[in-house]
Amino acid sequence: MNNLKNICICALVFLALACKKQANSDLDTRMENTDASIDNKVSDLLSKMTLEEKIGQMNQYNGFWDVTGPTPTNGDAAKKYEHLRKGYVGSMLNVKGVKDVRAVQKIAVEETRLGIPLIIGFDVIHGYKTLSPIPLAEAASWDLKAIKKSAEVAAKEASAAGINWTFAPMVDISRDARWGRVMEGAGEDTYLGSKIAVARVEGFQGNDLASPFTVAACAKHWAGYGFAEAGRDYNAVDVGSSTLNNIIFPPFKAALDAGVKTFMNSFNELNGIPATGNAYLQRELLKGKWEFDGFVVSDWWSIKEMVKHGFAKDKRQAAEYAIKAGSDMDMESYAYVEELAGLVRDGKVDESLIDDAVSRILRVKFELGLFDDPYKYCDEAREKQVIGCKEIQEACLDMAKKSIVLLKNENQLLPLKKEGLKIALIGALASDKTSPLGSWRLAAEDNTAVSILEGMQQYPNNDLTYAKGADFVYGEAKFTSELNINTKDRSGFPEAIEAAKNSDVVVMVLGEHAFQSGEARSRADIGLPSLQQELLETIYAVNKNIILVLNNGRPLAIPWADEHIPAIVEAWHLGTQSGNAITQVLYGDYNPSGKLPMTFPRNVGQIPIYYNHKNTGRPTLPASNDVFWSHYIDESNAPLYPFGYGLSYTSFAYSNLKVEKISDNSVKVSVDLKNTGKVKGKEVVQLYIHDLFARVTRPIKELKGFEMVELEPNQTKTIEFVLTELELGFFNNEGEFILEPGEFNVFVGGNSQADLKGSFQL
Ligand code: BGC
Repeated sequence: MNNLKNICICALVFLALACKKQANSDLDTRMENTDASIDNKVSDLLSKMTLEEKIGQMNQYNGFWDVTGPTPTNGDAAKKYEHLRKGYVGSMLNVKGVKDVRAVQKIAVEETRLGIPLIIGFDVIHGYKTLSPIPLAEAASWDLKAIKKSAEVAAKEASAAGINWTFAPMVDISRDARWGRVMEGAGEDTYLGSKIAVARVEGFQGNDLASPFTVAACAKHWAGYGFAEAGRDYNAVDVGSSTLNNIIFPPFKAALDAGVKTFMNSFNELNGIPATGNAYLQRELLKGKWEFDGFVVSDWWSIKEMVKHGFAKDKRQAAEYAIKAGSDMDMESYAYVEELAGLVRDGKVDESLIDDAVSRILRVKFELGLFDDPYKYCDEAREKQVIGCKEIQEACLDMAKKSIVLLKNENQLLPLKKEGLKIALIGALASDKTSPLGSWRLAAEDNTAVSILEGMQQYPNNDLTYAKGADFVYGEAKFTSELNINTKDRSGFPEAIEAAKNSDVVVMVLGEHAFQSGEARSRADIGLPSLQQELLETIYAVNKNIILVLNNGRPLAIPWADEHIPAIVEAWHLGTQSGNAITQVLYGDYNPSGKLPMTFPRNVGQIPIYYNHKNTGRPTLPASNDVFWSHYIDESNAPLYPFGYGLSYTSFAYSNLKVEKISDNSVKVSVDLKNTGKVKGKEVVQLYIHDLFARVTRPIKELKGFEMVELEPNQTKTIEFVLTELELGFFNNEGEFILEPGEFNVFVGGNSQADLKGSFQL
């Protein structure tokens, strides 16, 4: 119904516009910079456009080189050039660097009839050329200021290279570590994810989209992509209303409220309807109820893939369904450019839908200031000066240190002493200068990350020996191909054993290669790949004093390591400054404060495992000691490391929890936090609630507040949280946000197993 109403309104508006239509002339019709509002400028320009030119604005082509999806078969460069010249291309992606951006922009602006500039998109996911940690790692910092800064410097670098639109942030919540794209999001929690979504949007877009240092952001993938069945990328998604409204949608809504200019839809079907052809998601909810006035770009080929989904019978029908459902721009499917005009002429698609989509796209281009100066991002001098500059390197280093999570530190093995130690550094990843760059690094050059070996060499007063132990990956690791992993060659083991035998302490760097996580990198086994588990056990047999540094893009199931290895540091894929950040933490020059944004399972069979689960009707071992309760007979229900967990070189004590009702619908919670250790440190104080009884059951715990606190030894601080109906309410199964009176528990502590408990009644 809503849908129909929207379409009718659009039709009326554009009928009026059509009456104003002037005869199309030539270059004179180009937009001048006027004082009129952007809406007026958009209508004016629209009235001058032919149907084909309008559809052209809805057509996005990949550049002529890199691809981030399957290579197009019918999209040769000649055709793309021809379309560009005719004004049948509104956007390009994967065109990078001022020279190349200027070249395509010049065609759009100087050779087409109306001279409408292109919007240039790129996956600036965790940096452009200088890389910050993968987004999951950044989320582990829980430091919203630092995350915002990281997006801000990424925008600065990307915009200096001609880019004005990033396909980020990915705000998909996921509870499945098998899914490779968990590296690209903020983890499993919708509250933390929403806060981070805002920080990233604000960082990318700044206060002024027209500034040459900011880029338009894109909340993706709308919606449900992180719930791919069995964690297999692109797989179907089937989730109910409660999960959609309470878990999946909120980070998107938060991004929207923060002013995100674009959305990207997703590859998956959602409850039987591909997201790209899903009118409920795009027209009814996003553009209707939420009043989003930016535009929706499809994902790569996601329009034509609706045929493979078994939803549309051919590309023409896919184009029809996509535009009707509210997908405004077609990424690489060639569906709009080839089919939409015919659909309009045959009366299958109302031109008002095209006008609406084009208006949305043009509005963003106006807001970016592209009509005022299409070359504002094309300044070679700025490109040279900004890319890789000190400010960006420093922000990446800062973010990298803040992203590290200390998982275990028995007998204070860490931090390392700075002199007099014999250290064996073992593992192929320890000297790798490419893998730390992470999975989304289309503009970065291989071998440009600081390796851990290089980082360790900056502490010269210890005696360091490096031994690889075993190759991990053979050949060149590429974004577009499967990795060739070593599963047999143990010839490096003896050298590593020797080094370990002769040292006081062993630092082992193990985990995943960057291209083992990310898009299309789902894993069924999330242990240590290659020969690494065997190497770890072999070294442990000769020296138990091991510090295990993990490099990975997802939670790993490493129960053996947790049981045997005294110190474990989660160091993800930390980007260009990786080795510097890790060694500063190992040597105590930086006291770690990261907290896991995703639960680490003991066993892949526990997945999906997440802290905010339901209680079930049979949550605990019955008094009768029988078997009939919700559990596994071969594994505990408990995670290896819970959500929100992470240690410090100091220790913290929580006390004095107070809960005070301040109105009918709000409470104040306060707690004292004391640094009980010997060094200064930061703690992320986390607040969880449990709504005990509700007409739609609530999770056993839900994060509803957090604060980063830095304390000197012995210092105590009182932290306060205010919970309002926003935190205390939830969406019912009709999608309405409600607040039910009743009993609540509140928990405060340093992770999701926090047991300092209070309660209140609404
Ligand atoms: C991904 C998107 C990405 C797009 C363009 C797709 O394969 O799913 O997240 O933005 O490619 O590179």
